[in-house]
Amino acid sequence: MDEKAFNDLRQRLGDEHLGKRMRAQVDHILSLTGQGLGTFHFENMTWFFRSVDIALRLSGVIKLGQHNALQFVVRENRVPFAGLPEALVGLRILQLTDLHLDGYPGLGGLIANAVTNLDFDVCVLTGDFRFSDTGLYLHLVKELKALVPALICRLGVFGILGNHDFIEMAPLIEAAGVRLLINESAALETNGEKLWLIGLDDAHFYGLHDFDKALRGVPADAARVLLVHSPEIIPQAAERGFGLYLAGHTHAGQICLPGGRALLLNAACERKYTFGPWKFKGMRGYTSAGVGSSGIFARFFCPPEIVIHVLERAEK
Ligand SMILES: [Fe+2]
Repeated sequence: MDEKAFNDLRQRLGDEHLGKRMRAQVDHILSLTGQGLGTFHFENMTWFFRSVDIALRLSGVIKLGQHNALQFVVRENRVPFAGLPEALVGLRILQLTDLHLDGYPGLGGLIANAVTNLDFDVCVLTGDFRFSDTGLYLHLVKELKALVPALICRLGVFGILGNHDFIEMAPLIEAAGVRLLINESAALETNGEKLWLIGLDDAHFYGLHDFDKALRGVPADAARVLLVHSPEIIPQAAERGFGLYLAGHTHAGQICLPGGRALLLNAACERKYTFGPWKFKGMRGYTSAGVGSSGIFARFFCPPEIVIHVLERAEK
């Protein structure tokens, strides 16, 4: 990140947020404990992933797992949305999460091919652009350049940072055409009505999500969609009146038992919120299995997922 990009981020996020994020990133490199929800983080256990990787290679099933990790499933999720204005009925949101774009050579282009014929009005990328949660990231540029131009839609491409993403990655992600919402919001207009996207910084590891900052200037009675990397702050979100909460992070287990039972979910919330559609009080939500893979580029009984959320009026 050059000096100008750093100063732009300083001005945009404020010294407090940027300072805490960068301090936490340094701590993250050095430690297995984070600042956010939960005190232990599987993603830092490189020895664990190496052991599983070796076991998969020795048993000869790694190739099958890699093959599975590229069999993208497209799902449509119809969302009864409280108070949705007529002009926004039928609006289609493409969600890609946990891309981990450098996990497999050419993954950006492969995802681009999978979305080419899909119909959507806006695209949201809900975090985890990088495979590892520390280390290099400049090689992501190539994958982003292959993917983002394929996300053609009338309202734009938005994103948030996940626990695998350093704040220094923000300028290169935005240069590729993704507008990041880091405790920020964006209003999307359709026929005079607005849908607000509110994006939070990572809650899982960094604990730097800030509802108050993100909601500044957002009307209380507006149609509001919350983007959070993990499904771990559902009760806090429900108190603030969002119609829809979109998350990822769990990979729905990624390596599951037959039938899809996850062995590891790595999220501080009930299991029922860790995959697929859910409801909490009046708020609808969806936790996507993700389109990429982390730790090991392999999936078993848990295909990678591309989701289109279709907004509908909630029955009274
Ligand atoms: Fe992830």
